[in-house]
Amino acid sequence: MKHFLNTQDLTRAELDALLAAAARYKRDRRAGIADDPVLRGKSIALVFFNPSLRTRTSFELGAFQLGGHAVVLQPGKDAWPIEFELGTVMDGEAEEHIAEVARVLGRYVDMIGVRAFPKFRDWSEDRQDKVLRAFAQHSPVPVVNMETITHPCQELAHAQALQEHFGTSDLRGKKYVLTWTYHPKALNTAVANSALTIATRLGMDVTLLCPTPDYVLDERYMGWAAQNVAESGGSLQVSHDIESAYAGADIVYAKSWGALPYFGSGAAEKPIRERYRHFIVDEAKMALTNGAVFSHCLPLRRNVKATDAVMDSPSCIAIDEAENRLHAQKAVMAALAGRR
Ligand code: CP
Repeated sequence: MKHFLNTQDLTRAELDALLAAAARYKRDRRAGIADDPVLRGKSIALVFFNPSLRTRTSFELGAFQLGGHAVVLQPGKDAWPIEFELGTVMDGEAEEHIAEVARVLGRYVDMIGVRAFPKFRDWSEDRQDKVLRAFAQHSPVPVVNMETITHPCQELAHAQALQEHFGTSDLRGKKYVLTWTYHPKALNTAVANSALTIATRLGMDVTLLCPTPDYVLDERYMGWAAQNVAESGGSLQVSHDIESAYAGADIVYAKSWGALPYFGSGAAEKPIRERYRHFIVDEAKMALTNGAVFSHCLPLRRNVKATDAVMDSPSCIAIDEAENRLHAQKAVMAALAGRR
């Protein structure tokens, strides 16, 4: 594994090995067994262009628990603003170019994590994932996607939580519903892209539930999902009907995202999304399922995306999933350091 940019870049064996390592890290920690210090003498730079609670905490602590050290950098706040375009005359805000930033960091650290959300102006620009790609292009050390237009670390933590809940690594045949939910703002599609990717990769019968065709995800991720279904024997359908989508579901995963045709025009999309507040995950919808487990990547606005009753129910595994970020990312860092 050269970088960890998307799970779709991994072979199935590599993906399974990461999930198995994440499970071992969790089991060892619960048993009070100290981690093998596979990052002893090593370090990771965590470059955050956007805020975080879970990602920053779990990466910093994960590196520490493996005997390594993490350095957090926030370009434009506590580090210089960075230019990513090649050949540009840098007479704007940016003080240095990614060509220097990535190579300098590569002289100090052994891997670089990058969180860079879309700019929400033009999806045709943002879908190129330029910031992450530029780090990967210029960095002499492995680069980890800490959420850009996909969120592969979340995918691992989510898959691990589902495997724990069902007591098996084989999730084939489970009915998996990825449901859009209302949020006052048009959010990133990253977690939805990732959920669709990992659920189909693991061979589940996946329903993408969203208000209208405008909320269907980018063709790249719909294409990955179709490819995964062809390879793993699951299924994929898009639904705009809440009752039939929830009926018989084993897993409900919720996320809000902006409609791509309105990307960069939040004000134009707002009246549309306002009509779909009823997509909230509540007890009545969960009662339609096959006793489904519920999860969300967090952060989550209670009683907007999911009700208190759903979040506080025994079927909610969102906290387990959040915990698993720590274990899964330790597995990623160890693999990039050449161990486990
Ligand atoms: N789920 C997730 O990535 O959380 P943060 O944005 O708090 O890191």
